[in-house]
Amino acid sequence: MPEAESPRTHELASTFGPHLATVEKRAATALAASGFSGLLVHSGALLDVFQDDRTYPFQANAPFKVWAPVDDAPDSFVWFSPGARPRLVLNQPRDYWYKSARTPVGYWVDHFDIRPVPERAAARAELPGDLTGAAYIGEPFAELAAWGLKAMNPSGLVRRLDYARAAKTAYELACLREASRVGTAGHRAAAHAFRAGASEFEIELAFLEACGLREQELPYNPIIALNEAGAVLHYQLLGKRPPPEVYSLLIDAGAQSGGYASDITRTYSLEDADFAALIERVDQMQLALCAGIRAGVDWRDVQLRAHALTAGVLRDADIISCGVEEAVASGTTRVFLPHGIGHLLGLEVHDVGGFMRSPEGGDIPRPDGHPYLRLTRVLEEGFVVTMEPGIYFIDQLLEEARADKRAAHINWSRVGALSKFGGIRIEDDLAVTRVGCENLTRDAFAANP
Ligand code: GLY
Ligand code: MN
Ligand code: MN
Repeated sequence: MPEAESPRTHELASTFGPHLATVEKRAATALAASGFSGLLVHSGALLDVFQDDRTYPFQANAPFKVWAPVDDAPDSFVWFSPGARPRLVLNQPRDYWYKSARTPVGYWVDHFDIRPVPERAAARAELPGDLTGAAYIGEPFAELAAWGLKAMNPSGLVRRLDYARAAKTAYELACLREASRVGTAGHRAAAHAFRAGASEFEIELAFLEACGLREQELPYNPIIALNEAGAVLHYQLLGKRPPPEVYSLLIDAGAQSGGYASDITRTYSLEDADFAALIERVDQMQLALCAGIRAGVDWRDVQLRAHALTAGVLRDADIISCGVEEAVASGTTRVFLPHGIGHLLGLEVHDVGGFMRSPEGGDIPRPDGHPYLRLTRVLEEGFVVTMEPGIYFIDQLLEEARADKRAAHINWSRVGALSKFGGIRIEDDLAVTRVGCENLTRDAFAANP
């Protein structure tokens, strides 16, 4: 079916208008509450490589992308004045070295007053003459000082906008579902490549090809870890050759659609049944945690419950020998699960606003002993979060535990035998509803068996 007629295009076309209306309403409320009359949002700047004539790949700023799905137009702007149609000032330089931003087409363009300009400085003429009541969000640049804006990145306004971004519109959910669909296609291909003996780099290539995305189009650098590399939480190397003996793969890789991310992790045992059984236990624990998600749940409680469940898995697998309560109270579970149980997901993979108590300000602190948790809010309908429990065998943390009272709780010979597998993480993306959650990742895997 041609793209123009597909159900997906139809869904985007029918939900974009209400999405933009929500974005406008949030912006109008935030502007009024912060004392501004208009909002100018920058798409982002190209960053130069030091003493070189190249730039880093362009990544559009999230506060811009929430307005329009434009990812190839540095130094463009959205101008919003409450009550008026938003204006997109699109930088399309005449350039025979690089391809300029595409002329927008598709379901969203009629919602904007689009003004192409040949260079950044020319954008000023497409904006109101008087910007003294307006706020700017984005990186500063040379000529901006002369544009007469009231404030740059005022924190009260930025925080109000960040707070609101946690709850996704129907349009955003459609984009996030598609990002999961594309990401799971990549994961299927990656698992296949792993079973065929591929290196980490070759697994990445299989992932990219199945997603139909370039590396720079991914929402984050894929974590593709064979064997003990799985113990490095954000492992960034992509080994060009497989190790002599291959035991396991941990792959944390997501795709992007319309600027929205998926964040998906799976772990595989090549042929060891004992490690496969441990992966299965973590998978069951992950599903149990997902089953507890609905609007009204305090994410800090999810973090604490994850540690209680992890203690049970560690004990059942004979990795620790103490009781569940002791394992949590002594910090022994944190040796094996040293990261947060999940985070907000959206335009950014670790999306903004995770700690905010209210639009006005104030943060909700993390529970004691959980310094890497990125979300402390009570879940609301429309929030999209990851659920990503794990069990890792991390030398650095094990050495620290060996030196204190936690040493007595750990079955060191068992840990020694499992270390070659690195670790396990199972990560899905969940859209919170009033009564439960929609598992975007498992639904996407199930739809493409
Ligand atoms: N991919 C990074 C994370 O799971 O948070
Ligand atoms: Mn994640
Ligand atoms: Mn991840």
